[in-house]
Amino acid sequence: MTKRHLSKFFLNTVFALVFFAVGAVVSTSAQEKSLYERLGGYDAIAAVTDDLIGRLVNDKKLGRYFIGLSTDSKKKLRQHLVNFLCAATGGPCVYTGRDMKTSHAGLGISEEDWEITVKHLKDTLNKFKVPDKEQSEVLAAVGGTKKDIVEKQ
Ligand code: HEM
Repeated sequence: MTKRHLSKFFLNTVFALVFFAVGAVVSTSAQEKSLYERLGGYDAIAAVTDDLIGRLVNDKKLGRYFIGLSTDSKKKLRQHLVNFLCAATGGPCVYTGRDMKTSHAGLGISEEDWEITVKHLKDTLNKFKVPDKEQSEVLAAVGGTKKDIVEKQ
């Protein structure tokens, strides 16, 4: 092989390696998009949270849980919920609130209250046109908290 052939071979090899490396990075990042990213990031999660809270507060059976909270307490609860959902879906937020058992203990939340809440969450996700796959993942992400939140069977 001449010197010229060698350098051409070398260049082709380098190009091939770069091509495959870029391909690998692109396909990996496409596969690894977090639920947080697929939902649309922080602003989308904040909007989903606000819509859900609106439904819970105005629900004839669940509204009673939120009576008596000061405006500031409502803001704090809302921010905790945004951060909780952000963290639970793989986002960059840190949840600094109390754990689910501590924060719901004594409220007497029943199985039926839970089902109504899940229905409102589904209605919210439908309103924001969240695809079925992501909806199931959101429900799975919060579903694990049920055992700590529901007190009455
Ligand atoms: C979908 C599952 C649920 C999640 C992920 C969730 C999440 C949260 C979070 C993050 C907080 C704030 C905790 C803190 O202040 O440190 C909270 C508080 C609260 N949640 Fe939930 N929650 C859920 C279900 C429910 C249900 C079904 C109800 C009743 C209908 C409810 C009523 C409340 C109330 C009243 C508070 C305020 C408690 C207080 O500050 O004393 N939550 N929740």
